Amino acid sequence: MNAPGHPVAERPPLSGFGNHLASEAVPGVLPVGRNSPQRPAFGLYAEQLSGTAFTAPRAENRRSWLYRLRPSAMHGRFTPLAHGGLAAPPLADGVLDPNRQRWNPLPLPDHGVDWLDGLHTLLVNGSAEEGTGVSLHLYACNRPMGRRALVSADGDMLLIPEQGMLHLVTEFGPLEVPPGHVALVPRGVKFRVDVASPARGYACENHGEPFRLPELGPIGANGLASPRDFEAPHAAFEEEEAPHSLVMKLGGRLFATELSHSPFDVVAWHGNLAPFRYDLARFNTLGTVSFDHPDPSIFTVLTSPSAHPGTANADFVIFPPRWMVAEDTFRPPWFHRNVMSEYMGLIQGSYDAKEGGFLPGGGSLHNRMAAHGPDLATWEKATSAALRPEKFDGGLAFMVETLRPFRMTRWAFDTPLRQKDYDAAWAGFSAARP
Ligand code: FE2
Repeated sequence: MNAPGHPVAERPPLSGFGNHLASEAVPGVLPVGRNSPQRPAFGLYAEQLSGTAFTAPRAENRRSWLYRLRPSAMHGRFTPLAHGGLAAPPLADGVLDPNRQRWNPLPLPDHGVDWLDGLHTLLVNGSAEEGTGVSLHLYACNRPMGRRALVSADGDMLLIPEQGMLHLVTEFGPLEVPPGHVALVPRGVKFRVDVASPARGYACENHGEPFRLPELGPIGANGLASPRDFEAPHAAFEEEEAPHSLVMKLGGRLFATELSHSPFDVVAWHGNLAPFRYDLARFNTLGTVSFDHPDPSIFTVLTSPSAHPGTANADFVIFPPRWMVAEDTFRPPWFHRNVMSEYMGLIQGSYDAKEGGFLPGGGSLHNRMAAHGPDLATWEKATSAALRPEKFDGGLAFMVETLRPFRMTRWAFDTPLRQKDYDAAWAGFSAARP
């Protein structure tokens, strides 16, 4: 058997979002033609992980079979574990507020904090128990989780690093996730986040239908994020017999149980439920070649549908480097008011609708029907610019757009990171004189 937890670097990545994939760290482990033989190879234990109901339609059904050193069921009682920063919807004491909000980035910790302890829930909507809505968490950390693992029963976790490489260890194997990449860990998959240097970013936890690639409609068979660019890990396992803590997140609360061994003991797996990472630089960005800025839905990487066709429980959207060529057009994102609620974060550089105040690691909230758009400086520049073809190469921003208004956690509302003067971004526009 191979060294504990070590990926086999020379193998090409397993790729294809939603594909039925198979990986074995030891040749011959995966049963052929069946999932649960009487005696799996090497005395391993077969275990199914279902991410959708058994009877979900075939196109949406997600499940994988794991072949592991011990059954996951071999654990003692979970008992509550205190965490000062986490919450899940519905959030009775959450702040529902029509005002536009913006936050400065979390400071990096000045003492040892791992990824789990470094989480702060900023925004929530829907209901984790009902399987709707989304939570937006921030993290700042500087030490590995080590012998702690998290499993969220509340939702899929989309990790969006802003600084610092994440060494993600999952039941399915390890994934390296540098800034500019995202990683999607499905609900129910045990994982830990190790870091070798200070790290900061965002975690979008989707309580609704699992994220999937958006339909392409008239765009055609290609464009936006390509399924083949999503990479799943190769199976790798840890044989370590030492105390580990397994932390379960349910309803925004944490519960822990002690294990005598590493929970990352899956020797082989197959199925279409798996973690993925995706390099946002591979996004095939589309835009106008005539006039007018298209709706930002053209930048959707992943979507979680709601029961209303075309209305997302949550869209994950990016604003990547791209050419701007529109003629007779106000080129930055326009003024608008939106029935959907928008949280924006910044992974790198700047955003083309704001001149200042929106910082890497920071974020902004424009809740349902909040009027927003470019600030005055951006508007002045864009309305007087010579409209030559120009490459926006200054940054990488993202948006989580969702059909329900967000509630701020008390922390999000009370933190000194919240900018009290954000409305000033839209001050000073002079009246038009028809
Ligand atoms: Fe917007």
